[in-house]
Amino acid sequence: MCGIVGYIGNKQATEVLLEGLSRLEYRGYDSAGVAIFSDQHITVKKRAGRLANLAGVLEHSPMEGQMGIGHTRWATHGAPSDQNSHPHTNETEAIAVVHNGIIENYMDIKQWLQETHKIVFRSETDSEVIAHLIAHYYENDLKVAVQKATARLQGAYAIAVMSKDEPDRLIAVRKDSPLIVGKGENENFIASDIPAILKYTRDVYFLENGELVDLKREGVSIVDEFDRPVEREVFHVNWDLASAEKEGYPHFMLKEIEEQPAGVRETLNQRLTAEGNLNLEGLTMTEDDLAKVNQVVIVACGTAYHAGLIGKALIERYAKIPVTVDVASEFRYRDLFVDEHTLFIAVSQSGETLDTLAALREAKRRGARVLTICNVVGSSVARESDDVMYTWAGPEIAVASTKAFTTQLMAFQLMALRFAELRGSMAQEEIRTVIHELKKLPDQIQQVLTMKDEISNLANQHFHKDKVLFLGRGMDSDIALEGSLKLKEISYINSFAIAAGEMKHGTIALIEEGTLVICLATQKHVYEKTLSNMKEVKARGAYVVAIVQEDAEQVDDIADVVIRLPKTSSMLTPILSVLPMQLLAYYTSIERGNDVDKPRNLAKSVTVE
Ligand code: G6P
Repeated sequence: MCGIVGYIGNKQATEVLLEGLSRLEYRGYDSAGVAIFSDQHITVKKRAGRLANLAGVLEHSPMEGQMGIGHTRWATHGAPSDQNSHPHTNETEAIAVVHNGIIENYMDIKQWLQETHKIVFRSETDSEVIAHLIAHYYENDLKVAVQKATARLQGAYAIAVMSKDEPDRLIAVRKDSPLIVGKGENENFIASDIPAILKYTRDVYFLENGELVDLKREGVSIVDEFDRPVEREVFHVNWDLASAEKEGYPHFMLKEIEEQPAGVRETLNQRLTAEGNLNLEGLTMTEDDLAKVNQVVIVACGTAYHAGLIGKALIERYAKIPVTVDVASEFRYRDLFVDEHTLFIAVSQSGETLDTLAALREAKRRGARVLTICNVVGSSVARESDDVMYTWAGPEIAVASTKAFTTQLMAFQLMALRFAELRGSMAQEEIRTVIHELKKLPDQIQQVLTMKDEISNLANQHFHKDKVLFLGRGMDSDIALEGSLKLKEISYINSFAIAAGEMKHGTIALIEEGTLVICLATQKHVYEKTLSNMKEVKARGAYVVAIVQEDAEQVDDIADVVIRLPKTSSMLTPILSVLPMQLLAYYTSIERGNDVDKPRNLAKSVTVE
């Protein structure tokens, strides 16, 4: 993870770098630092903790200079200390480096540098070896030195480098970690992600794996891993910074929760013709392509994985194709049954999650057709897929994912319906009925969000609990997992989710007087059975909050609190039932005084294995 940014131009580099880093803090916020070139030397300032610490230091002792690199860190190797913060330099401070990723063979290189070249290391990071290695190869040409150094690196990296001996040049290179180039007028930028540079330019180049960019004030040149020049088309960003700002909301998470009606509506409307029929542009699969598919494999991480679980239920129900779902970090290390008859679906908000990307590549290598549900146009996962269905959620900044999830669910609805259409597994009339229901969802989401005060009160009553249990059956058990993850991520309460019927095989032992149990019971075909499970925990002292459909019966006699959702089909309820749990997590986090948008130990974009 980590965010990197670099600038060369005529502005004060610290200002540009701090602005960029503030947009990248979602990638990691353990420490931050900048290196600025001025007067034939490089000055580094770095501090443990949030970017604000570094900004404070720079305010007291400003740094002049029009070229620099900056970094915001999510610690992997070495604690979040000043010493371990980036940029790292070589011993003479002639070379400064920022790095995102993990250098897997850093111990070997470090040992070699220490023993053979008597280099003294100042940090515990893997990244520091890069600075020393580049310095080792440096002979008045930074690009050549970086090429020689990276040839020895194993692992994932996006690196930006500068040398005190080349005042008009920044070099950046990437392998398996994201990096974009921003193109300006007599100034150029590099960054881990677009928002970092959007204040200054909308024209970007996406770097491919192995590519290196040589940035000067007046232009950029890109070469591939064999040093062959690369011609790259400029991508013009058509969204603006306002969509990546809080716009008066206290937290990004609340803003993003509130943006769900719009995101879900957009994700749907982009795929419907004026007559209300499906028109899935990004999904180019034909009837023949789908006829070859004998299994679907969905792979993702975190919240996107939970969307995949719902995707499975939808594809199996609508299109009658068997589906397996796996977390990306496990997928590659299993005995895989993936071949040219497999449709592999990656789900990723960022499109940069390393495990998901690696799983996708493995599936492709085995001949699978690859389809992606993704929120970021031009991201690595999207670029490497045969088909992409974008979720039009807009930039998601809060670490805890909300609007990406509900838009992913909408994308799965449409994809599963399209598969059903191609396979003839649903009559056109049935498909139309589902689409009719889908169209109601944005307003229904809005309706659920009006329960904010009620849910805030609930959080106020229970925020001090040391455990919370989420129960459900069928798709409700998938949504229970997401509700539990949300709560864990930002409230740090020990919460867990389990299929309601499985409780009595062990987990029910945890229930004691006052244990908070959130029980989802939106699935009509197992409603009675879920009520029985509710009674079981109630009988053992649990405080039960039930999330049910509008017309649910009997539940008031069992649950302590009943949250009723607007009426929809059981196949569509996940898009609504997750909302009260997002709000519960949000308000609980606030009650506990946590940093909602930047929870401890986490980062938004996980670009390490
Ligand atoms: C991180 C984020 C989660 C996200 C997961 C997968 O853990 O904190 O919110 O669900 O990565 O990210 P992706 O971008 O691939 O959806």
